[in-house]
Amino acid sequence: MFLRFLPGIVLAAAMVTPAFAQTSDVKVGHELYAEHCSGCHLASGAGGVHFSHAVSSDLRAPGLEDTYHNKSALLVRAILYARDEDGDRLDSPMPAWKGVLSEKQALDIIAYLQTLRG
Ligand code: HEC
Repeated sequence: MFLRFLPGIVLAAAMVTPAFAQTSDVKVGHELYAEHCSGCHLASGAGGVHFSHAVSSDLRAPGLEDTYHNKSALLVRAILYARDEDGDRLDSPMPAWKGVLSEKQALDIIAYLQTLRG
């Protein structure tokens, strides 16, 4: 009985999974996001938390991909080196995560962010 539905379930999963997630791990990205990012960008990814000089960004799709021209390399740079799409330093207190997170972990977080919709 279950097997009758299996192809449909697999197909549905393939349709909702972003192409990027095939090499990156959304579940790991979710855990890393909850641990390191949600304090400032909120669990929803909506951001909007005010600090003295900056407001935390909305990290949900598709706005974030648009800002970074759909280039994961630019987003990895933003996370690891705190550089915006033009290479300028993002405002404090956005940390540079190099040394804490690996490039693979940044890609996992990006894969998770792509599942969040604004
Ligand atoms: C201490 C608070 C804080 C933490 C923790 C934090 N951020 Fe940020 N983040 C910010 C702020 C504030 C900004 C806005 C900086 C600016 O406007 O220049 C920002 C900006 C960003 C941007 C740039 C978005 C854009 O539209 O250009 C990205 C990407 C980002 N954060 C990802 C992350 C990720 C991923 C994590 C976890 C690994 C994280 N941040 C953790 C505060 C934080």
